[in-house]
Amino acid sequence: MKKEKFLVIGAFGQIGSELTAVLKRIYGENQVVAVGHTTIPEDYQGIAVKASILNPEEIAALVKKFQITTIINLASFLSVKSEIDPDGAFATNLLGLKNTLDLAKEFHLKVFWPSSIAVFGPTTPKNNTPQSTIIEPTTMYGLTKRAGELLCQYYFLKWGVDVRSLRYPGLLDYKTPPSQGTTEYAKWIFYEAIKKNLYQCPLREDTNLPMMYMEDAILATIKILDTQAKKIKIRTSYNLYAFSFTPKQLALKIKKFLPDFSISYKINPQIQTIADSWPQTIDDSKAREDWGWQPKYDFDETVSIMFSGIKKIIEKQNEY
Ligand code: SER
Repeated sequence: MKKEKFLVIGAFGQIGSELTAVLKRIYGENQVVAVGHTTIPEDYQGIAVKASILNPEEIAALVKKFQITTIINLASFLSVKSEIDPDGAFATNLLGLKNTLDLAKEFHLKVFWPSSIAVFGPTTPKNNTPQSTIIEPTTMYGLTKRAGELLCQYYFLKWGVDVRSLRYPGLLDYKTPPSQGTTEYAKWIFYEAIKKNLYQCPLREDTNLPMMYMEDAILATIKILDTQAKKIKIRTSYNLYAFSFTPKQLALKIKKFLPDFSISYKINPQIQTIADSWPQTIDDSKAREDWGWQPKYDFDETVSIMFSGIKKIIEKQNEY
């Protein structure tokens, strides 16, 4: 067992619930302290604490108490929620990160923080979007992520904080319910398809967005955390990519499982504007070169896992 000890903030969210499970498996249950800011799931096995990254004294006490070596701050508002509550997004996404970096500086902690393809904006090249390019985000979510990336790099350059970050594409998992993100339609669609054979999509049928199956995102996170510091050449955030699809292409894949499924489109202008400002495909060659990133799951496999996972959840709900 390795001796690293992790404090995972946002441990019960979309990424956190799967990442904490994998960290516990690799490093041991006592090496992972899971932090949630509202409720802790009753069935959680391991060390779990209620605290908020917006209260850094609370987090500092946990770092000392549990002798933490790595802080993973996953607490974040996604894109659609950030437009509804820009102040909340600014606080959680950016001030929360600043608190994390200050703690890392004080206690010499390694840091992981998630960025997103949302850092790119309408002026960014849309296809095979390079690691370094024009980055002028127009959403609150994107700008907190971009400013956060620069803050990470600043703490690394000025104080040597060992911070690592990934620009996740839309993440697809079936274990957590869909939330308020632009790419979340690609989770909602499965629920509606399985329950009603029908889905009303808020995006245009040809909206092509970068996506990834959650297990790949978790593998990438574990891998970048485990890489020797000298190999991490980018201290803002690494581009990360698996595949892209449009709502129309996804609907066709779902139709293979449910031949009667049909999709209709009722465009939500706010969500469509966000999606239109993001890239369609991503060049993640730096992650591949620097620390050996390679995705395992393609579009077909992801759809099939999502379909059977969500079908089981719905069947179980129907039993009660
Ligand atoms: N999946 C996120 C969202 O849609 C983007 O990182 O908000």
